[in-house]
Amino acid sequence: MVCAGCGAALDADAPLPFACPRAGEGDVDHVLAFRAPADQGALAEALADHGERCPFVRFRREMPSYRLARRRGMSDEDYVALVRRLDGAVAEVDGRGFVETPYGFDAALGVWRKDETGNVSGSHKARHLMGIAIHLAVVEALGLADLRGRDLAIASCGNAALAAAVVARAAGRRLRVFVPPWANAAVVARLDALGAERVICDRAPDDPPGDPCYRRFREAVAGGALPFSCQGSDNGLTIVGGMTLGWELWAQHVQSGGPPLDRLVIQVGGGALASSVFQGLGRVKDAGLTAALPRLHCVQTANAHPLERAFAAVARRAAAVGVDAALAHARAHRGEFMVPWPEEPRSVATGILDDETYDWAAIVDALLRSGGSVILADEATLRAAADAVEGAGIASDPTGAAGFAGVLTMRARGELDPRENVAVLITGARR
Ligand SMILES: Cc1ncc(COP(=O)(O)O)c(C=O)c1O
Ligand SMILES: [Zn+2]
Repeated sequence: MVCAGCGAALDADAPLPFACPRAGEGDVDHVLAFRAPADQGALAEALADHGERCPFVRFRREMPSYRLARRRGMSDEDYVALVRRLDGAVAEVDGRGFVETPYGFDAALGVWRKDETGNVSGSHKARHLMGIAIHLAVVEALGLADLRGRDLAIASCGNAALAAAVVARAAGRRLRVFVPPWANAAVVARLDALGAERVICDRAPDDPPGDPCYRRFREAVAGGALPFSCQGSDNGLTIVGGMTLGWELWAQHVQSGGPPLDRLVIQVGGGALASSVFQGLGRVKDAGLTAALPRLHCVQTANAHPLERAFAAVARRAAAVGVDAALAHARAHRGEFMVPWPEEPRSVATGILDDETYDWAAIVDALLRSGGSVILADEATLRAAADAVEGAGIASDPTGAAGFAGVLTMRARGELDPRENVAVLITGARR
């Protein structure tokens, strides 16, 4: 794992490669990224292996946890058994384990779509956390870290919290969830039922600016809790688990025999989802398994779009000094580019209202290199997209359908040729 911001490289066998050791230093965007080269043969084999249904077994050879386990003497069979045990426990808690989620062309919507609404806990988020949970189990099994007494921690009151509670329960680990006082009652009830410890974070008048839940989460991590987070800046391994979504999509598209994808459109809140999928596809290309990737597009709401602002600023700079130099500058001057959204935003797509796009730099990198863009969807279009997706038979919430709202927006602007092959992710179930 290497810090994409400052270049610090962790020891390959560092047991808990979550955050950059220099995190917080300067205005640098410290985010640990998995940079070990892809194993071309193993990745090609995994992409072609539709018989293995569990993505964390199928793509294990592309995971730092697996490579660590093997270097430290764990056999392939033992690693697979460890993943299957954990996956079985997830299925006991949630009624379903991790399997390849449905993908195909939807004639009613006119797009290719990957449906994550039936995934563990009802969204793609559990992929991020399963990647971390497997890693923790591996380092414990190898005796590389003593994790007794170390709770997991997350700040969320939505899909990420629900996913964290399911996976933590399955892993037999204590979880602290930092939630605002107004958290949704159904989510709260489910967290309680799963045995998560809820910490309600009020906003005090003399608090520093920023989200009090996130501040309390950071304090917990500073005090020894393990970041069980869906943001790469808190835990780089969360991005690796999310890559399984990109690899599956790629494999399923190839299997479909359809023409190559022209564009992939992904909704962005904190940015881990798009960062994971784009980096997963980037590894397919780096391994020489495809010559070209689709153009990548992100969707934010017209009411809050910190990524769009950062992207526009880096793109302006790139036009003058080139993509590499612009990105290097942006990663070293985070505050100039990723400016927290000034007002408290509202939207029906509540899951993409983060006031900061934590994983912005990796996304901007992928957008610039693929010739993509950030699309802003207005409220009427977000609602129309959710209705259309529901009409196509998927019970998605407006956040889950927001990628398709981006497609509707591009169509309305005449930016899409109807012959183009476009893919979207339907990421979260209606609750
Ligand atoms: C259903 C759903 N889709 C997409 C997202 C966006 O993911 P990210 O925050 O990683 O950008 C979220 C985040 O909460 C979500 O709940
Ligand atoms: Zn760093």
